Amino acid sequence: MNLDVSRLDPARIPTHVGLILDGNGRWANERGLERTAGHLAGEAALFDTVEGALEIGIKWVTAYTFSTENWSRSDEEVEFLMWFNEDLLTRRRDELHAKGVRMHFAGDMDDPRIPDRNRLHMREAEDLTKGNDALHLVFAFNYGSRKEIAEAAKRLAARALSGELDLAQIDEAAVADEMYIDGMPDVDLIIRSSGEHRLSNFLLWQAAYAEFYFPGILWPDFDRHALVDAVAEFQSRDRRFGAAEDKPGKSD
Ligand code: IPE
Ligand code: IPE
Ligand code: MG
Repeated sequence: MNLDVSRLDPARIPTHVGLILDGNGRWANERGLERTAGHLAGEAALFDTVEGALEIGIKWVTAYTFSTENWSRSDEEVEFLMWFNEDLLTRRRDELHAKGVRMHFAGDMDDPRIPDRNRLHMREAEDLTKGNDALHLVFAFNYGSRKEIAEAAKRLAARALSGELDLAQIDEAAVADEMYIDGMPDVDLIIRSSGEHRLSNFLLWQAAYAEFYFPGILWPDFDRHALVDAVAEFQSRDRRFGAAEDKPGKSD
């Protein structure tokens, strides 16, 4: 089925969409499968959604693939997710590159629990695609927003202590500049599948004025058509950014 983007307003496409890919385990449980089968099924959903984003003209997509809290899962599941991230990268890298996608990885990459080969493949994918700009695809991997903000604070403090930075220069823009990915804009729309209504430590700083969309489906059932539905809903919202609502018909 072709993607129907005609109901979208091309002038109001969100610049940055965040995806909290949730519900893989439940999807597998419902079918009497291992949780890991749900993660495997989630891959097709993610890449179909990325193709939809390219078609719609979204410039940034951040996919939450492993949180700093996900280490608390069973050894078996953690090991699977580490392997899966690496496997997916090596299998999908060239295809994404051919489509003009630039890949980024946001998270604590120095964590010794991340296998070296995985780290190497992430760096290679970033290097290979660094000249692309059709779409920035950020994998939030070993990502925790509080950690990102705490590390930003630490770097700013170090620069201030060394005399490179004056305290007066530490403002919102300076903090934003210290986030993991250079030039990543604030997130406009956050989609969390599975019916949960929470952020789970995702993009806390960047989501200050994000719109939220919670489709009640499990992540492996999400696709490009569901993304169009999400963007259509986003376009129906009135984003005021703190300003007063316009009251048409009321003269001054
Ligand atoms: C999200 O699905 C994927 C990751 C966290 C990697 P879950 O694994 O959280 O699935 P549920 O929420 O248990 O169903
Ligand atoms: C958030 O999902 C993390 C990812 C999607 C990678 P979780 O399933 O880990 O979040 P909680 O535990 O339900 O809040
Ligand atoms: Mg979950």
